[in-house]
Amino acid sequence: MTEPLGIALAGLGTVGGEVLKTLQRHGPELSQRAGRPLEVVAVSARNRNKTRAADISKLKWFADAAELAGSNADVVVELIGGENGVARRVAEAALHAGKHVVTGNKALLAKHGVRIAGLAEDKGRALKFEAAVAGGIPIVKSLRESLISQGIVAVRGILNGTCNYILTNMEATGRLFEEVLRDAQALGYAESDPALDIGGGDTAHKLALLSGLAFGIKPDLEHMTVEGIERITPDDIRFAREFGFRIKLLGVARRVGSGIEQRVQPAMVRASTPLADVDGAFNAVHVDAGAAGPYFFEGRGAGAAPTASAVIADLVDIARGSIGPAFGIRANELRTLEPAPVGAASSAFYLRFEVLDLPGVLAEIAGHLAQSRVSIESMIQRGRAHGAPVSIVMITHDTPQSAVERALKAIATSDKVRARPCMIPMEAA
Ligand SMILES: NC(=O)c1ccc[n+]([C@@H]2O[C@H](COP(=O)([O-])OP(=O)(O)OC[C@H]3O[C@@H](n4cnc5c(N)ncnc54)[C@H](OP(=O)(O)O)[C@@H]3O)[C@@H](O)[C@H]2O)c1
Repeated sequence: MTEPLGIALAGLGTVGGEVLKTLQRHGPELSQRAGRPLEVVAVSARNRNKTRAADISKLKWFADAAELAGSNADVVVELIGGENGVARRVAEAALHAGKHVVTGNKALLAKHGVRIAGLAEDKGRALKFEAAVAGGIPIVKSLRESLISQGIVAVRGILNGTCNYILTNMEATGRLFEEVLRDAQALGYAESDPALDIGGGDTAHKLALLSGLAFGIKPDLEHMTVEGIERITPDDIRFAREFGFRIKLLGVARRVGSGIEQRVQPAMVRASTPLADVDGAFNAVHVDAGAAGPYFFEGRGAGAAPTASAVIADLVDIARGSIGPAFGIRANELRTLEPAPVGAASSAFYLRFEVLDLPGVLAEIAGHLAQSRVSIESMIQRGRAHGAPVSIVMITHDTPQSAVERALKAIATSDKVRARPCMIPMEAA
C-alpha cells in the first residue's frame, strides 16, 4: 500500500463523530477500497472536554478549526455548518494551504460554492460535497459524472426529511401542521428553530447545488421561488387525496425554453408515481436525463450514518486521485443562470378558497379567473355549517403561474373571501 491519506476533521458532531467512528471501525476495509490507508491525524470542535462516541485521545487537537490548514493532513473535512463564519474560514484556509476539502455544508456552497470551487481548482485540489445533498443518496456524483451524456432536462427532489416527515404525518393523522411540528421537534425530527427546514430554505440550498451540477450553471438562490409547508392544511391533504394526489415539498429545476426554472414549493404529486410514495424522513431525487431516460434515487437524506457514508465516499474518491472540478465543469466555465422566460412555464394548479356561503361568490371567483385566462378542469365545494366559511377547491388546466397569481390577487380582495387563497402546482412527472 502507498502513503496514507491524512484526514483532519473540523466538527465532531452528528456527522463528524460518525465519520471518525466509521474510519476507526472499518479502517482496513475502507483502505482496501481506497487503495491506501485513510488516517485521521487531527480534529477540532468547539469543546475539547465533551464526551465523544469516538476516541480522540490520540489525535492532535486544534482549538481553532481553521488552523487544521497547518496540520499534516492531506484533506480537511468541514462538518461544522453555517454559510459564513468558521466553516468558510476552515474551507478557504485549507485550500489556500494546498489541502483537499470535503464538506456536507449546503448553505456554504449554495452561497460561496463557485468561489470556493475556483480556489480548489487554482490550487489543483478537490472540493467534494456528496453529503451536502440528500444525505446518503449518491446524487452529487451521479449528476457530476454519470448522467452527463444527453444533458439533463429536469431534476425534482424531496430534499428535506423534516418537511416530508411532517407532511406524511399530517396525512396519516389528519392533524394540523403546528401540532405535528411540535411532535417532530420533541422526537428530534425537527430543529428547535425549524425555520430553514419548513420555510424551504434548506431545500433551496440543495436545489441550487443540484441545479449547478445538472445544468453547468453557478448555484443561484436569487432566481428561485421559495415557499415552505407552513400553510398546508389537513383539508389540502384530504382534497389532494380525493383528486388522486399527495402533497410533497419539492425542489424542481428544469429547462424551460432557453432558460431554467427553479422553484421550491409544496406540489401535488400524482399518487401512482415514485415521488409520491416517499414517506417519512426519506429523501428522493427524480432526474429526467432526456434520451438517457428517467432515473429515480431514494434513501436516507440525513442522520449520522447515511451522511457519514457520503463523506467517506468522497474521501475514498480523493484517495484514489479523483480531484476533478467540484461542479463537473471548471468554476470559471459555469454559466450564469438564465431564468425561464416569464409565462413560459405552465402547469395545472390546485386552488382552495375559504369563502362565505353567499349568492354570487362562485361567479365572482370564476370571473376573476376567466379575466386572467385561467380555465377550470374540476371543482369541489365543501362545508355548509350555518354561517361558517365553505371551502371551494378547483383544479385548473395548464396555465402560467403568473396568470394564476394575478387572478388570486384580485380574488383575495373580495369581502366574501375569508383567508388568503391557497395555490399548489400539480407536478406533471
Ligand atoms: N446531521 C445531518 O443529518 C446532516 C445531513 C447532511 C448534511 N449535514 C451537514 O453537516 C454539517 C454538520 O452537521 P451536524 O449535524 O454534524 O452538526 P452538529 O451535530 O451540530 O455538529 C457540529 C460540530 O461542529 C462543532 N463546532 C461548532 N462550532 C464550532 C467552532 N466555532 N469551531 C470548531 N468546531 C465547531 C461542534 O463542536 P462541539 O461538538 O464541541 O459542540 C460539533 O462538533 C452541517 O453543514 C450540516 O448541514 C448534516
